Amino acid sequence: MERTLVLLKPDSTQRGLVGRILTRFEEKGLKLIGLKMRQFPEEHLREHYAVHAERPFFNNLVSYMGSGPVVALVLEGLEAISVVRTLVGATNGRESAPGTIRGDFGMSFSNNLVHASDSSESAATELALWFPDADELVEWSPADLEWRYNVGEELA
Ligand code: CMP
Repeated sequence: MERTLVLLKPDSTQRGLVGRILTRFEEKGLKLIGLKMRQFPEEHLREHYAVHAERPFFNNLVSYMGSGPVVALVLEGLEAISVVRTLVGATNGRESAPGTIRGDFGMSFSNNLVHASDSSESAATELALWFPDADELVEWSPADLEWRYNVGEELA
């Protein structure tokens, strides 16, 4: 099982889309094991996007991410990182495929509703930044887990 970080950005909270976006992940079969909502400080957001520090859009990105509440999620599942990236869609909302979250709900490149870890390395770094305490994550087993996956092939 893999874990990945998802951020519902301030445009998701301001537009009242948190429930609908979270539902997409739940309905897919991903397991929610962590969730917090906060308006995060600039320092934290700069660290999260440190890889983009030299990009021309960096300051605008940090200011947008700090302009309202963010909901941070930890999702778990088989190949969760790539599954979540596929559900989220391409970065530019105007080009994201219909059926994806950005493709269905967004029109912007910058205000693109959701962030999702793009590799196992970034997931590890981002999970440590956003959920530093082990007790922030909930270990539990969905009652229907053995129907979400094939027991003999995928849960062995
Ligand atoms: P995200 O998946 O969170 O990763 C980096 C973010 O930077 C991206 O979503 C967008 O919100 C933003 N971003 C990436 N490229 C650009 C760009 N060319 N112009 C403006 N914002 C961008």
